[in-house]
Amino acid sequence: MEKINAAITGVGGYVPEYIMDNEELSKLSDTNDEWITTRIGVKTRHVLKGEEQGTSVMAIKAVEELLFKTNTRPEEVDLLICATVTPDMIFPATANIVSHATGLVNAFSFDLMGACSGFLFALQTGATYIETGKCKKVIIVGADKMTSLLDYDDRTTSPIFGDGAGAVMLEPCSKEYGVQDSILRTSGAGEQYLNIKSSGSRCPVTKETIDKKWNRIYQDGQVVYKAAVSNMTSTTREIMERNNIEVGDLKYLIPHQANKRIIDAVASRLNIPEVKCMVNVTKYGNTTAGTLPLCLWDYEQKLRAGDKVIFTTFGGGFTWGSLYLIWAYNGREMKKRD
Ligand SMILES: CC(C)(COP(=O)(O)OP(=O)(O)OC[C@H]1O[C@@H](n2cnc3c(N)ncnc32)[C@H](O)[C@@H]1OP(=O)(O)O)[C@@H](O)C(=O)NCCC(=O)NCCS
Repeated sequence: MEKINAAITGVGGYVPEYIMDNEELSKLSDTNDEWITTRIGVKTRHVLKGEEQGTSVMAIKAVEELLFKTNTRPEEVDLLICATVTPDMIFPATANIVSHATGLVNAFSFDLMGACSGFLFALQTGATYIETGKCKKVIIVGADKMTSLLDYDDRTTSPIFGDGAGAVMLEPCSKEYGVQDSILRTSGAGEQYLNIKSSGSRCPVTKETIDKKWNRIYQDGQVVYKAAVSNMTSTTREIMERNNIEVGDLKYLIPHQANKRIIDAVASRLNIPEVKCMVNVTKYGNTTAGTLPLCLWDYEQKLRAGDKVIFTTFGGGFTWGSLYLIWAYNGREMKKRD
């Protein structure tokens, strides 16, 4: 029997209208444009404003655009996976809320929490449902409202993050296209370096935990930086070697947009030139599960059928990995939304 592969057949995205630049951020945090630009490489980030506006608001808009661009009727979709660490609430899953709002009446849906690697883990999970023949149309959405977790008094963290969502459609295809290989890894030993201490059952949110700001992101930036560079580099190198991909064969490296210095360090260790790296951290910051699909959203017009791309990511957990995919369509021919 011919092997079924899972191809990305469309991309949707959404970033909130409100843009906070480094000057505005410097009024909330003790920082400045020069420091943020040189250490992190972020100039602006989008912020979801308004009462009761959760991650689903952005994910719904990304999925609506995806359905439009791929000419998909909502009832045709079999599965939706939402990668997020900022669900609207612990339950119901944000995926359930998104599916309901977008009319996916025949789909089952669930959230997947892999922090900044969430989209990549969800992409491989969705691809496996296609490869086994269980599903024909799967939507993977990566969405996070990271500004809901920020402490603006913590200047080492507040400039990094932003809000946004991206979504892709996965459909069966022949073996020349789609997901070819992946290396996905986790290590719970990273817990102490990047976490939100009071956010679940171990240490429920109380007035005391809020006073201590345990409901905000904590990170040891230098440990995270080193682990991100070394792990993204090693899984990307391994996936290139075992699939016989030379740098010259690669159209794009699609790195998690944590920080421009991390992207540059990974690319330099792999001898991948800057022009082959998708980068949009400058305008969106780190949108966690949103970064990889938002890269596709921004670069879709430049992608052609047959292009070899490698995603690579690193995040809280620790979680990390790389995924090799052959692009399946000419981005310029994709229907546009006004
Ligand atoms: C957070 C990060 C940018 C900090 O950069 P760094 O070079 O390690 O900076 P340090 O923490 O050593 O701080 C250097 C100096 O800058 C200061 N500083 C820190 N944040 C600052 C800010 N926003 N503005 C101005 N100064 C700042 C520090 O107080 C320190 O000052 P000192 O030398 O007088 O003590 C860096 O560690 C990093 O990128 N880590 C990875 C974070 C990440 O990507 N997380 C998400 C992973 S998915």
